[in-house]
Amino acid sequence: MSHTTGNGVVWVTGASSGIGLSLTKRYLDEGWRVFASARSQGGLSDLLATYDTLTFIPFDITDESQVGLVRETLSLHTPYLDCAVLNAGTCEYLDMTDTDPDWKMMDRVMSVNFFGLVNSVDVCLPLLKKSARPHLVGVSSQAIQAAFPQAEAYGASKAAVRYFLSALRMDLKQFGIDVTCLLPGFVDTPLTQKNTFSMPFLMSADDAANRMYSALASRPFEYAFPKRLSAMLWAGRHFPTLWLSLLAPKKNSQQ
Ligand SMILES: NC(=O)c1ccc[n+]([C@@H]2O[C@H](COP(=O)([O-])OP(=O)(O)OC[C@H]3O[C@@H](n4cnc5c(N)ncnc54)[C@H](OP(=O)(O)O)[C@@H]3O)[C@@H](O)[C@H]2O)c1
Repeated sequence: MSHTTGNGVVWVTGASSGIGLSLTKRYLDEGWRVFASARSQGGLSDLLATYDTLTFIPFDITDESQVGLVRETLSLHTPYLDCAVLNAGTCEYLDMTDTDPDWKMMDRVMSVNFFGLVNSVDVCLPLLKKSARPHLVGVSSQAIQAAFPQAEAYGASKAAVRYFLSALRMDLKQFGIDVTCLLPGFVDTPLTQKNTFSMPFLMSADDAANRMYSALASRPFEYAFPKRLSAMLWAGRHFPTLWLSLLAPKKNSQQ
């Protein structure tokens, strides 16, 4: 039931790709019973064919009307969840050089990264409450540690996740539920493969998942990694003028 002993029951969202897929594999290798969700099975097919301890439960986390059904489906398979890793997410960038910026994108990103995570908590909370030692985990991002150009939506959604989890940690203590907020740095996944800027200290998804899995054993409130990126972002936050001069797009003479 814990990350050190294995053999617990875990639900992972965003399990079809990137970090969630690597994390799902790590849990399976450690002997956990794993429920994996995403809109499609994506990269899970091989694992589903290999492990009878893995079950895929489709869930579009933005669709509130699926909450009851997903909870019911989980409940048919397991009386409780020891851990829920709410990892599903997306990233879109705001382009202020566009004469008509796509402000609707703010809605799209918030609805997956923030409200989708809230819907996921709604799904799993009753099952976590039935575990002897429950653990709720959400995935935010190191992007919230300092401002990045074009990351208005992504950064705001992940900052909202962090605050939401910190308040939830207060309110769930009475039920014995530990809450952890993970803040990964740059990880090589389909989400970042479209980035055109340089990504310092880029990690593989397996490396990120292994670090996350190990860190979760001690149930910290927050785990930000890699530390070298945390240090760089700390400097960015404390020297905002320098940070701005380094990262802000240069003046476009054609505008
Ligand atoms: N990669 C990084 O550098 C990085 C850094 C910090 C934080 N993160 C966070 O880590 C998490 C995983 O990201 P990743 O890099 O592994 O990205 P990814 O490879 O694009 O995976 C995203 C996962 O989320 C699922 N998903 C997206 N929209 C969904 C929806 N509406 N309903 C249900 N599932 C949905 C996707 O599955 P379907 O499309 O099949 O639904 C997929 O399984 C995200 O929360 C991301 O913000 C990533």
